[in-house]
Amino acid sequence: MDNKKRMRILSGIQPSGKLHLGNYFGMMKPALELQEQGDAYLFIADYHALTSVSDPSALRQNSRDVALDFLACGLDTKRTVFFRQSDVPEVLELSWLLSIVTPMGLLERCHSYKDKTAKGIAASHALFSYPVLMAADILQVQATTVPVGRDQKQHVEVTRDIAIKFNLQFGETFTIPAPSIRDEVAVVPGVDGQKMSKSYNNTIEIFGPEKDTKSRIMKIVTDSKQLEDSKDPSTCNVFALFKLFASGDERHEMEAKYRAGGFGYGAAKKALFEKVWNYFEPYRTKRAELEKNPAYVEAILKDGADRARLEARNTLMRARQAVGLE
Ligand code: ADP
Ligand code: TRP
Repeated sequence: MDNKKRMRILSGIQPSGKLHLGNYFGMMKPALELQEQGDAYLFIADYHALTSVSDPSALRQNSRDVALDFLACGLDTKRTVFFRQSDVPEVLELSWLLSIVTPMGLLERCHSYKDKTAKGIAASHALFSYPVLMAADILQVQATTVPVGRDQKQHVEVTRDIAIKFNLQFGETFTIPAPSIRDEVAVVPGVDGQKMSKSYNNTIEIFGPEKDTKSRIMKIVTDSKQLEDSKDPSTCNVFALFKLFASGDERHEMEAKYRAGGFGYGAAKKALFEKVWNYFEPYRTKRAELEKNPAYVEAILKDGADRARLEARNTLMRARQAVGLE
């Protein structure tokens, strides 16, 4: 198999809550930019979300929201196959075939599993085998490139290990993928300075209501320097978020204001709010339009599922042959 000739991008996101700036800069924006460079697959990881969402109506609503969010933010359905994971059930059979070559120890070492169980999520078999299903997502379309935030790097490494082992044991079947992680947005901080995450209640949503967005930004934790003091932008959570939106000049200007003193965190937060709100304004308009047309969104997902299934069936057939089921 020739990996060098083409780039095939795949990434997914769980519909487990409202998408936030960490999701946007860590995964959505890089994935949407990469769709210019190769064929791309993006999907709503609803099977995965079942490991943490137990309310069926919340799962349905979240899935609809994620679909709208991606389409509003520039997913190009001509270039990108956009689908719901559960509309391509072949992935579950592939996941089983992959689990045959997956050592327990590989999964036991996964940080995400350890973190989630430490936070009180039940240590179910689904949660434990989550990375095997993720490997099947990636391998079923023979992806070369997986844009994600840093917290997902280990899962892509697990995918590589599984694919290499399967190929060795049963013959060349899968393309070996690589993660694509942008250093500058690998970990976007939340309002408390920890990694922004739905599970830490420290997010700024990309499509949150204006009042809520403002009040969350106003709550960003800063040090206790006074208005007149000189401040260090490199250690400030407000600045860390501001620079995600700012041009080079705007960034330098803001750094100078921090250092000069006489510029308070309240003013920095106001400037950040303006940036966030204006940046997403055109996407909000697009989203509101799409929201009025659920049949159109559903048709896109169905068409995406049809296209993804062709690829998934092809890969599954090869894997079934490789292990001797055919
Ligand atoms: P959450 O931690 O909010 O549950 P997910 O685990 O669903 O987020 O992450 C979805 C995608 O967004 C993944 O690719 C992940 O790496 C990326 N991501 C999530 N939070 C951040 C963050 N704070 N910084 C950078 N990328 C992030
Ligand atoms: N585990 C990813 C997350 O929580 C979501 C995901 C599922 C994914 N399957 C994937 C990401 C395949 C990239 C590729 O963010």
